[in-house]
Amino acid sequence: MSDRLTFPKGFLWGAATSSYQVEGNMRNEWTEWEKRSVEKRVKESREESWHDSWRGYGKKERNPEFSKEASDPANYISGAAADHWNRYEEDFTILQELHLNTYRFSIEWSRVEPEEGVFDQEAIDHYKAMIASLRRRDIEPFVTIWHFWLPVWVAESGGALSPEFPTRFTRYAERMAREFGKDVTFYVTINEPDIYTSLSYLLGFWPPEKKSVILHFRVLHNIKEAHKKAYAAMKAVAPHAKIGITKQFMHFVVLRKTPWNLVARRFADWWWNTSLVHALEGYQDFIGFNYYQKKIIGKDTRDQTKILHTDISWEYDPESIYDALLDAKRYGMPIYITENGLADAADRLRGRFIVETLTSVHRAIEDGAPVLGYIHWSLLDNYELDKGFWPRFGLVHVDFATQKRTIRPSARLYARIAETNTLETD
Ligand code: BGC
Repeated sequence: MSDRLTFPKGFLWGAATSSYQVEGNMRNEWTEWEKRSVEKRVKESREESWHDSWRGYGKKERNPEFSKEASDPANYISGAAADHWNRYEEDFTILQELHLNTYRFSIEWSRVEPEEGVFDQEAIDHYKAMIASLRRRDIEPFVTIWHFWLPVWVAESGGALSPEFPTRFTRYAERMAREFGKDVTFYVTINEPDIYTSLSYLLGFWPPEKKSVILHFRVLHNIKEAHKKAYAAMKAVAPHAKIGITKQFMHFVVLRKTPWNLVARRFADWWWNTSLVHALEGYQDFIGFNYYQKKIIGKDTRDQTKILHTDISWEYDPESIYDALLDAKRYGMPIYITENGLADAADRLRGRFIVETLTSVHRAIEDGAPVLGYIHWSLLDNYELDKGFWPRFGLVHVDFATQKRTIRPSARLYARIAETNTLETD
């Protein structure tokens, strides 16, 4: 039976990127860290157990299909990345070709404020030109102010842990809101604050590689303060703006309903999903909803051979977004799905993933979740953080040697849905 699932009028259809992962040729905390850690990362990629975390990085992630690329030192230097800094017009033409009406991207703090309190007008004008180009094409800019990495001067003066951090961040965020004025409505101040503190301060995988529960909580506290301060300052100069953070939500599932598992599920849901949203109450105009996969509480007793995995071995899980969206209904705010996608170099699963995910999203909307947009991660293959280039999340394939862009078949399928605001299933 074929079905036509129509999305609400004015639904935002988009794709996302972030500065460091696509722009290329910059100098920030992470580009400095890359150089220092190449050898370590190459060595790790050869080890039996590549680093393991609750985010889904685990042994299986050492996908043999990619071991050659993963053990090449060049994989760990972001370099020109996807050269989006120079090729953004070409990339925006692709957005248009894909019928997308929003684009989420981030401002590179190290470019616009390379030294404390010294703003680089040329870099700011570059972002203004990007925004103007999007506007000309009727594409709504969805601007992230800070996506995980810091200018070197911020990192060297205590990073996000410094008592000065909220003030520094606010000065930068306010300046951006003032510069962009009426041309930007949607702002994400901070991308995934708790993923950042977990991976950078608790598990020590990302710079500054700290492993401390205390630091994790201190930085998280500081970041929340930074967001609130920036929110107020940005609203003062751009009252029209809709401002929030993005957060990676998780849906926790219990397979065996033991009393312990049920209590653990409640706690995990409160601790991971709700506590941050509550802490920012009054300082968010929407829920920036990033979603990748569910989490099993207790022993995973499922037949593992029946579970599909993406290239970085995260579970192929297009359905649990339904439950996660219904969980998020309780916050009583409009929801924008600001990231969702998968590493799939061969484009084997992506088309099916998009269709199944959007079917789940549509069902969640019918059941009352106020979802107003879907932004796929990512527009382009990019530099996937500590993993380097081999995990390919792009709707568009990028040949990093020639910078040639090729639209993947799954993107064409997504484009049809965006163009008609309707998903046809059979
Ligand atoms: C981050 C992106 C990243 C993606 C896939 C998200 O948590 O915001 O920067 O590329 O996950 O790992």
